[in-house]
Amino acid sequence: MSSLIPDHRDHFQLGVCHYPEHWPRDRWERYAEQMKRLGIAYARIAEFAWSRMEPRPGEYDWGWLDEAVEVLHAAGLKVILCTPTATPPAWLVRAHPEMLPIDHEGRRRNHGGRKHYDHASPVYREHSRRITEALARRYGAHPAVVGWQTDNEFGCAETTRSWGGASAVRFRSWLDARYAGDIAALNEAWGNVFWSQEYNDFGQIDPPNLVCEFPNPSHVLDFYRFASDMVVEFQEEQVEILRRFSPDRWVTHNYMRLFDEFDHYATSTCLDFATWDNYPTGGVEYAAFSPEEKTRWARTGHPDLVSINHDIYRGMKGEKRGAWVMEQQNGQINWAPNNPLPATGAVALWTVQAWAHGCDVVSYFRDRAATIAQELMHSGLLRHDETLDIGGQEVAGLELSGRPCADVQTPVVLLHDYESLWVQNAQPHAQAATYWEQLLLFYGVLRAMGVDVDIRHPEQDLSGYRVIIAPAIQLMSERRAAAIRAAATNAIFVAGPRFAYRTETGRVHEDGQPGPLKDLLGCKLRNFDGMRPGLTVRAGTHEVGIWSECYEPLGGETLVRYEDGPMQGQAAVVRHRNAVTIGAWSAPLIREVLATLLTEAGIRVMDLPDGIRIARRGEAVTWMNYNQHPAPLPDGTIMPPVSFEVRVGG
Ligand code: GAL
Repeated sequence: MSSLIPDHRDHFQLGVCHYPEHWPRDRWERYAEQMKRLGIAYARIAEFAWSRMEPRPGEYDWGWLDEAVEVLHAAGLKVILCTPTATPPAWLVRAHPEMLPIDHEGRRRNHGGRKHYDHASPVYREHSRRITEALARRYGAHPAVVGWQTDNEFGCAETTRSWGGASAVRFRSWLDARYAGDIAALNEAWGNVFWSQEYNDFGQIDPPNLVCEFPNPSHVLDFYRFASDMVVEFQEEQVEILRRFSPDRWVTHNYMRLFDEFDHYATSTCLDFATWDNYPTGGVEYAAFSPEEKTRWARTGHPDLVSINHDIYRGMKGEKRGAWVMEQQNGQINWAPNNPLPATGAVALWTVQAWAHGCDVVSYFRDRAATIAQELMHSGLLRHDETLDIGGQEVAGLELSGRPCADVQTPVVLLHDYESLWVQNAQPHAQAATYWEQLLLFYGVLRAMGVDVDIRHPEQDLSGYRVIIAPAIQLMSERRAAAIRAAATNAIFVAGPRFAYRTETGRVHEDGQPGPLKDLLGCKLRNFDGMRPGLTVRAGTHEVGIWSECYEPLGGETLVRYEDGPMQGQAAVVRHRNAVTIGAWSAPLIREVLATLLTEAGIRVMDLPDGIRIARRGEAVTWMNYNQHPAPLPDGTIMPPVSFEVRVGG
């Protein structure tokens, strides 16, 4: 982690998202004092305030922002300043409509919401650099400003990919560079002989939308890679300017939960640390849960759907701590189909959970509930009438600020990669067999056994882990295969379904799955089965639904076989030395196999009660009850509903 972050290295702190431009000037001091009283250390400001910073082209108005920063400074608050590029003002859009993104259906999107820009637009890039530089020059050395956030939630509202306009033009030159000007190489990489898709030159290639029937998955993969690279470039341009004019400040970005439209590892390379925005009740509304399950978790969120994000963003730069929650739900939200009030205790529980998973700062969204526009149904720490809302009261009662920020130490790592995600979700083959569900299947099993996990990109440093699990790594280049082979030498290695099905360009390996890693796994794929809901088979003693695949052992030993269905008698789980391949979607089967392997690696396996989770940070073990009823712990203690307990050493 960067050494430039003395303001949050040692102990846990709180923050809040603050919008001075939404309130009359005579309230600002009062709100700053209120934040201090709640124990808040950071105020994040200005991420949507471009129309106030530059009301007309080239005409800057810094007076209000100067005062807002001074008021926060005078109250002893640390300021996180944001580049305002998530909301280009109307005058800019009118002058340059070509900066607007094109949606998947080919329609131009408009001003009036947010994120209405194409990351590849040269003219928008120019204005993004210009406003970033103006802001950084003015506030870069201000003593209150400790760090920067770029833009806001890249990709929010499906804006990572623009399916025409500037992106279509840049996509062609991006492909030209990727294939070194060799159109035959592109045709070969994508398999364009299929359905006469061969191109004579790069100028003939469009984004892969609005085609008749299915687009070519290799075309889709490269378009997704391209769009991701545009986010990387957009971010890097801002970060370079911020570092130039605001030295000795950290720079971050606030990512979204389980967001998948760009490669977050690549966009984080230039940052000091990653942050993400935690809205647990919204996560449940959009989860692949049954209606009953959604109701069960509606007021608390689901523990694993929250913590997997903490573990992903902590690992974004290969760290064991130090990510933040930049926006944390502190009441009800406004953007999900249904927006229930959180359970009593939930805001405190989410805050502690963040700390327990390695976060150094939790910053709430937002201080006072908005009385205007799109978010006037959304809670703040303060209600519309400025009284302390339920979440605000829980924050006031939290005795968490100042807790030590130790490392999360775990010998278990899950591998995660956005390119594998893109190819799996482009062709799930069984509707429910998505990448996130497959990753969550393994993650949930580990969490229910009380096992802490790191999450890493397969090409990050994996040395030191005793158990490496690749639940859904479908894309396998020679380079990645070499990295995995090396990492697996000194660890137990577990491969999940569809492991190494495809090459780097999205074709199937000529010798089938798992291509170059057959020697490691000691088996190869025979058949796979994409099952509709309700269709099941049995593997060993367990029921398997949604996805199953079977293997031909090549030196490996069959541990579990299918007992019925078209794969009856074939291998569902194969072990070859320290490498185990699991081909079936079945939580109990995965649990059985992982429990044996973890025990073999000397890692303690528990059987946590339903709705109870633990997380270890340094010496502390945090127990969390996500149930809305009291729940017994293994030692007989009864945990109150929606509560936590931090124990040292046990
Ligand atoms: C986030 C966003 C915030 C606010 C919030 C409401 O996704 O970054 O600006 O809109 O949602 O829950």
